[in-house]
Amino acid sequence: MPVTVVDHPLVRHKLGLLRENNISTKNFRELANEIGRLLTYEATKSLPTEKKTIHGWAGPVEVDQIVGKKITVVPILRAGLGMMDGVVDMIPGVKVSVVGMYRNEETLEPVRYYVKLAKKIHKRHAMILDPMLATGGTLVATINLLKEAGCRRIMGLFLVCAPEGLARLEKEHPDVEVYTAAIDERLNENGYILPGLGDAGDKIFGTK
Ligand code: URA
Repeated sequence: MPVTVVDHPLVRHKLGLLRENNISTKNFRELANEIGRLLTYEATKSLPTEKKTIHGWAGPVEVDQIVGKKITVVPILRAGLGMMDGVVDMIPGVKVSVVGMYRNEETLEPVRYYVKLAKKIHKRHAMILDPMLATGGTLVATINLLKEAGCRRIMGLFLVCAPEGLARLEKEHPDVEVYTAAIDERLNENGYILPGLGDAGDKIFGTK
């Protein structure tokens, strides 16, 4: 499975600031979006471009334009919304497909409670947003949904990944491309990533 840890001084520095226990909601939000932008830069590196001649100020000039399949950004509710603005800054016209899942406490399986996908999603590359790849349960369910809808190239952007979540993804969806700022040590007994960021949703929404 292609996993890219975006090893850049800006990403490492910003991730370090995010890990601070007493970080404010404002700073957490800003940094999550800033890292989202930098992950997008890396994840879009392989998009094909084509030459086009336009009218420049001094006459015809050859420029590059992105061609081929368009992208849909897929934030997983609710924490995925915390990276969305940063990603949309980089791809301003992008269509957004929102997915909400909750965990059935008896079966422990993720259940879809809200799905609103971009039109003709089968013609788009999907870019899933979730700050934390922990156990991978919600992610795998979201990828199943996107594949059912016909998406063939699926990327996932995460601030932090747990090795356990990556192993599950490798087993169930080895074709999915992962872009992350860090792979941390492990999950604790409650499914939180260590050293991690704590509850990313609470930090983004200020609900802690
Ligand atoms: N979700 C979070 O917000 N944090 C974790 O560490 C794991 C899942």
